[in-house]
Amino acid sequence: MSHLKKTYTTEAKFMLHGGDYNPDQWLDRPDILADDITFMQLANTNTFSLGIFAWSTLEPEEGVYQFDWLDKVINDIHQIDGRVILATPSGARPAWMSQKYPDVLRVNASRVKQLHGARHNHCFTSEVYREQTQKMNRLLAERYGSHPALLMWHISNEYGGECHCENCQNAFRSWLKEKYNHDIKQLNDAWWGPFWSHTFNDWSQVESPSPIGENAVHGLNLDWRRFVTDQTISFFENEIVPLKDLTPNIPITTNFMAETHDLIPFQSLDYSKFAQHLDVISWDAYPAWHNDWESTADLAMKVGFINDLYRSLKQQPFLLMESTPSAVNWHNVNKAKRPGMHLLSSMQMVAHGSDSILYFQWRKSRGSSEKFHGAVVDHDNSTHNRVFQEVAEVGTTLQQLSDVVGTNRPADVAILYDWENNWALNDAQGFGRATKCYPQTLQQHYRTFWERDIPVDVITKEQDFSSYKLLIIPMLYLVSEETISRLKSFVAGGGTLVMTYISGIVNEYDLTYMGGWHQDLQEIFGIKPLETDTLYPSDRNRVNYRGQIYELKDYATVIENQSARTEGFYQEDFYAQTPAVTSSQYKQGKAYYIGARLQDDFHRDFYQTLIDELSLAPAFVVQHGRGVSVQVRQAEEKNYIFLMNFTEEEQQVTLKAAVKDMATEEELKGNITLAKYEVKIVEKRKVH
Ligand code: GAL
Repeated sequence: MSHLKKTYTTEAKFMLHGGDYNPDQWLDRPDILADDITFMQLANTNTFSLGIFAWSTLEPEEGVYQFDWLDKVINDIHQIDGRVILATPSGARPAWMSQKYPDVLRVNASRVKQLHGARHNHCFTSEVYREQTQKMNRLLAERYGSHPALLMWHISNEYGGECHCENCQNAFRSWLKEKYNHDIKQLNDAWWGPFWSHTFNDWSQVESPSPIGENAVHGLNLDWRRFVTDQTISFFENEIVPLKDLTPNIPITTNFMAETHDLIPFQSLDYSKFAQHLDVISWDAYPAWHNDWESTADLAMKVGFINDLYRSLKQQPFLLMESTPSAVNWHNVNKAKRPGMHLLSSMQMVAHGSDSILYFQWRKSRGSSEKFHGAVVDHDNSTHNRVFQEVAEVGTTLQQLSDVVGTNRPADVAILYDWENNWALNDAQGFGRATKCYPQTLQQHYRTFWERDIPVDVITKEQDFSSYKLLIIPMLYLVSEETISRLKSFVAGGGTLVMTYISGIVNEYDLTYMGGWHQDLQEIFGIKPLETDTLYPSDRNRVNYRGQIYELKDYATVIENQSARTEGFYQEDFYAQTPAVTSSQYKQGKAYYIGARLQDDFHRDFYQTLIDELSLAPAFVVQHGRGVSVQVRQAEEKNYIFLMNFTEEEQQVTLKAAVKDMATEEELKGNITLAKYEVKIVEKRKVH
């Protein structure tokens, strides 16, 4: 299994608590560095990520190295029994490097060479940057590889972006030659070349997509996104060569991201591919708690969804690599977490599979762009303020949770997310520009299970489907023949499959299936979708589903029923009285098709039927109202049950069995109260 498991089974298990520590900003303040070590203990922290942006301090001039400060910091942390996640510093370069080797700088899609500055902006193809990073990483591994405090490698920081320089163009062309067997005709066929006279007769004519050039060839756009993922991974693989050589037992991670507003998966890299190269998934979570566009519970549901995706990428616990104990500095409005929210939001991460609560950053910077970003230690240098105290409380709670480290949560339900599908669907000119909302649609399907405390894996198409009772694949617009045949086997073998409108339309080259819906899909679902009707935002229609009326918006599929059962039919428009929701028995399993974008009330009722039919159940049953979430981590001897109130009101919940309150050791049963934003962690011994 993973290196993470190896690390944790060979030594005492513990929840990581701490975060990004940037002592290189404070080297002229030994008093501050000394306070840090004292305060780390007062905050009940134990793990620090070092050196993430420290290149200009580690190598102030080419070939001139300064490691003594890092030696001291690592030793000081070790002295207090702390552990270190050591970063490779490639996330930001020193100025001397950009000046001497301009090749490391990116060229943007408009073919403008970027200047030195900011961060996360190097060319992934640059040979010089690859050499420089490997050289630096080898020095780090040689010097610290056997240090007892070293827990893990943190490779670079938040990989992202793309470069369009000539080196990248050549790398892209080589990637394409490989993919299309050195046969330009295969590329032209895949990209539908003759359209708008876009046939290439030489590889050198192919350019990456650009706002001032080619941007209308969808196959090209899709291949470019795939190439960017592969090239980023190739850069990463180059970075870790010395680490694998010298420290084969130290696990490797890199911190993933989410898109801010809806907390949907990071869009520009295919993390399902990246995950295969990592020992441990880690990610940086910055939900906008207390915002003015959604309820706390709605946001909590989205946090649940993305955690379940990142956990499912490797089917093992992940790490929360960065979070803020208070506010960030880059949201439109940077609101402080209300009292209690820090503990609640941190425990939600753990409840969904995180084995850590780590922050950006340990100490607030004094200058530059992140001087107001929340941190454990504020400019007041005090351990008495609210934020510090709430961090210390999280630390105490984590100390009681070491049993759950390394444990996964089994699920009978899976929802499928696919990065390639998202790219292709967003690129598709058609449907509604603003209403495709693929990841948001998945969140809407996830909601019912979150509200009912039923564990869900959010998986990707490469993963095994066979262990699930229910597989939900909303808006799977791009689907290969191979995936279709795996879906077919899933249903044939007894699985229940739910598919929706705008699914099964193009193959992996973004070419539409010809001759109507794919035969295999027709066979599984017993229907043939004929047309997708895209609606204006104010348009509405209604569906009668099992005698109840539900509103739909945005999309409605006109369906020809071949052998399915009509579960719901449209009420209005030219397709009134025709099927909108169908079900079909296929061999041992069942396949449902939801033809329209129906709302939460429909999903609640629709999925309740499947929950009953398939006997889907929470790992621990608690009766509660909306906005309370119950999640379970199963350790060897006991289950740890997280009762979380994501509302601004007190909530009554009813426990179906007696449990022990982890904090007070009291026995709890029957009705109990959760205060606003309260989280109670209770234990239930397992019966073996
Ligand atoms: C992350 C980044 C950190 C810090 C943080 C602020 O995206 O990795 O270095 O900038 O945001 O929220």
